Amino acid sequence: MCGIVGYTGRDQAAPILLDGLSRLEYRGYDSAGLAVRDGSAPAEVVKALGKLYHLADKTDQGRALPGTCGIGHTRWATHGDPSMVNAHPHVSGNCSGSGSGPVESDVVGVHNGIIENFTELKEKLLRHGYTFYSDTDTEVAVKLVDYYYKKYKIGPVDAITRTMVRVRGSYALALMFRDYPDEIFVARKDSPLVIGTSEGASFLASDVPAILKFTRQVYYIGNLQVGRIRPGEVLFYDLNGDEVQLPLTEITWDTAAAEKDGYEHFMLKEIHEQPRAVRDTLNSLIRDGAVDLSATGLTDDILRGIRQIDIAACGSAWHVSVAAQYVIEDLAGVPVRVELASEYRYRRIPSSPDTLVIVISQSGETADSLAALRVAKERGALTLAVVNVIGSTIAREADHTLYTLAGPEIAVATTKAYSAQLIAMDALAVRLALVRGAITEEKSGELIAALQAIPDQISRVLEEKQRLQWFSSKIANTHDIFFIGRGLDYAISLEGSLKMKEISYIHSEAYAAGELKHGTISLIEQNTLVIGVLTQSSLFEKTLSNMLECKSRGAYLMGLTTNGNFSVEDSVNFTVYVPKTDEHFIASLAIVPLQLLGYYTSVNRGLDVDKPRNLAKSVTVE
Ligand code: F6R
Repeated sequence: MCGIVGYTGRDQAAPILLDGLSRLEYRGYDSAGLAVRDGSAPAEVVKALGKLYHLADKTDQGRALPGTCGIGHTRWATHGDPSMVNAHPHVSGNCSGSGSGPVESDVVGVHNGIIENFTELKEKLLRHGYTFYSDTDTEVAVKLVDYYYKKYKIGPVDAITRTMVRVRGSYALALMFRDYPDEIFVARKDSPLVIGTSEGASFLASDVPAILKFTRQVYYIGNLQVGRIRPGEVLFYDLNGDEVQLPLTEITWDTAAAEKDGYEHFMLKEIHEQPRAVRDTLNSLIRDGAVDLSATGLTDDILRGIRQIDIAACGSAWHVSVAAQYVIEDLAGVPVRVELASEYRYRRIPSSPDTLVIVISQSGETADSLAALRVAKERGALTLAVVNVIGSTIAREADHTLYTLAGPEIAVATTKAYSAQLIAMDALAVRLALVRGAITEEKSGELIAALQAIPDQISRVLEEKQRLQWFSSKIANTHDIFFIGRGLDYAISLEGSLKMKEISYIHSEAYAAGELKHGTISLIEQNTLVIGVLTQSSLFEKTLSNMLECKSRGAYLMGLTTNGNFSVEDSVNFTVYVPKTDEHFIASLAIVPLQLLGYYTSVNRGLDVDKPRNLAKSVTVE
């Protein structure tokens, strides 16, 4: 997590760095800091605790920090608590308590990632006379670069590559050396980093939106590569210090996609963008009335040869995987195993070339998902990445990549990316089913027509938002919520529950409805809210019975079901209907009221919807 930025050129760096950091705040907001240098004068460091506006206030929106070359950081604490002394940038020399002021050090740097062997490296540096002022792994990395730089009297690139050989873990590092005014040196392993250039200026950032206002020409620096960034010119090197050529890529999407557009929060805007995100993703996968996966390179022959599908993902992307498991097994008859990426990576699951391992990830940078992908490749499986961020590491490393077209997602709680992933997996299930002969062409056509109707149906669900707003005001002071359902409804419950708890801070759990009576039902008290998801005909009565078991123990019930299919109004206290579709695809509709419920509950509780506490958008640590 954490976001890093850098700029070198003719303009004042600090306002550009603050602007970039404002677009990376989703990656962390415990503290922020800048290091800026004016010509050959030493770098000046300013840090501030908490959200970015404190740093902007402290530097008079950057005007109080003159200089045309600088680096910046927004932090999500990993090593060391969120404090001034642990805030980045870090320096190779000593540092006062606040860490702000001119830097009498040779190296100053910012870092996103985790140095796993930092304790061992710290001991080595202590033996060589270094002292430490912070608890961070970053200070160790900066001092190790400084150590090699001085010991071997080598240039920055060689000092950095020597450091990279010693360091274990993940990093996107940006460093300034006192002897090299106007230059920034970067290194990358397993943490995102993009470098942009324009006439007379160069930029770096953890994510494209941070520099898109200034340039569309970017380089995606590879793993274990180093970059030397000068105004308008960038050179890249491998671990041996040999120069490598990287292709320049043009970013074609728009910055407007990363603005709030009149909505109060990014989350609400992104909820409303779902019809578009789903339509765009679907359109990219359908040609002449059939699902066409040629852009991914997955041919019908490959699909026919698959004997087993394993899906690995984290958080909401894992919830998409749970839903996809039901849909793929039911439509295509292929066995599907769903694993949390953080577990998958450490299990010894046998794989072979007829196993397709699918890794689903919005950011394409989630550390556990990336590790799961690499493990799957090592075990000889064929891999498919379902990813939203173009050019991200997971997208680049997978054998095949299916891009969801949700556009940039800023709110920490995912909505439109989740929906785009769901529809992509549904389309994949339809193609798999067709090529394996599990469904006819006619059935495939019907299913595709149902998928194509979903964007408009989502718009209809959004029209009902006032009811959810009203209901959320009633439940805003609830302490516990249980989301229950069976089959696909369980997958929907998992995501509904996460949407509620992560932004409202109300304790909530999702249960497969049949499991409640095996322990959890003892938690049901007078007025405990139980939300039942009831969209599957074959399971409806069973889940309703489980809800009534809760009601007879005092629970207050909300039912979520499909229009005209089932009648629950007599049994529950509050009912939400969504339009009917093929039952395999109902998650795309049923999730929307639950997203709205989480959103409005958070708003009613006066919380920071887009940046919930302790979270970050892109989880690039294990
Ligand atoms: C929850 C949420 C997270 C992510 C998870 C995986 O709203 O957004 O649970 O789904 O961190 O992230 P990606 O999809 O980027 O791998």
